[in-house]
Amino acid sequence: MSFRTFPKVELHLHLEGAAPPKFIAGLAKEKHVDISGIFDERGNYAFRDFLQFLKVYEAATQVLQSPEDFRRLTLAVLEESASHGVVYSETFLSPDFCGGGDVGAWREYLHAIREAADQAERDFGITLRGIVTCIRHFGPDQAKRIALCAAETADDWLTGFGIAGDENAGQPADFAYSFDMAREAGLRLTAHAGEWGGPQSVREAWRDLRVERIGHGVRAIEDLALVEELAEAGVVFEVCPGSNLVLGVYPNLAAHPIEKLRERGIKLTVSTDDPPFFHSTMTREFENLARVFEWNEDDVRALNQTAIDAAFCDASTRDKILKKLETA
Ligand code: ADE
Ligand code: ZN
Repeated sequence: MSFRTFPKVELHLHLEGAAPPKFIAGLAKEKHVDISGIFDERGNYAFRDFLQFLKVYEAATQVLQSPEDFRRLTLAVLEESASHGVVYSETFLSPDFCGGGDVGAWREYLHAIREAADQAERDFGITLRGIVTCIRHFGPDQAKRIALCAAETADDWLTGFGIAGDENAGQPADFAYSFDMAREAGLRLTAHAGEWGGPQSVREAWRDLRVERIGHGVRAIEDLALVEELAEAGVVFEVCPGSNLVLGVYPNLAAHPIEKLRERGIKLTVSTDDPPFFHSTMTREFENLARVFEWNEDDVRALNQTAIDAAFCDASTRDKILKKLETA
């Protein structure tokens, strides 16, 4: 069996974080912006740790300056995902990088992203849905502007709201107002937690933001009572093993808690997070899990089922994707 062609569902992918370095370097050249410092001698993104990763990430977004840039980016990212067998994907979208939080500007960026998603569905057979994400280290006031962008554009395509960025900046409760606004607009909720913060950070995100999914969540393993509660509540973890290894959350895959979390009943899915930053693809994630934990086709099928059950899409989209998954 080839993990590459096996149909897959991915729930945790940052659109700007999926920008290939060549794509960003090409835009930088076109726009005469000097961001050469973010690349190593081979042209890959260069960073030593998580905070530097966030800086490089934000520097790369400086060259994404127009809706047209995001249209091109979305198309390139979806072509790459589809080439790894991804049939359904959800992507984090950051109005911070698409007009700075202005609702009118955000609408134009969103329109361009959706045009590209429609084209990718026709050309590559991949379906995309969007999750607006605020950025924790930009603070609660800016998050409210981002939540307003999300609430104003919520529909059957823009279906979720979340939070990413530096998990050590502030507390989840600081962002409760934004999550309440998003929930009232009908958006489904996820939060990055338990990547840089310990189990308490996961507990607070779950309790104070009332999310149904957790981005990463892996450090919940340090509190087995919490793991039991989250398993019981059916909270879904969007686990990104390759990201955790490159950023140094765990030294190697054998030390990663994904298998332990699964054994303890956590519903989990596998994603790439920011694939070119971590030299990751959905194919590689599953190949590595097969090598280290002996995961096989049945495991991939089970993960796909968890992912599509937890997907922020409507029932008719879910049925359409389920039919594609049944072919495997
Ligand atoms: N934004 C993009 N990737 C991220 C990650 N792994 N953690 C937090 N914020 C992010
Ligand atoms: Zn992420």
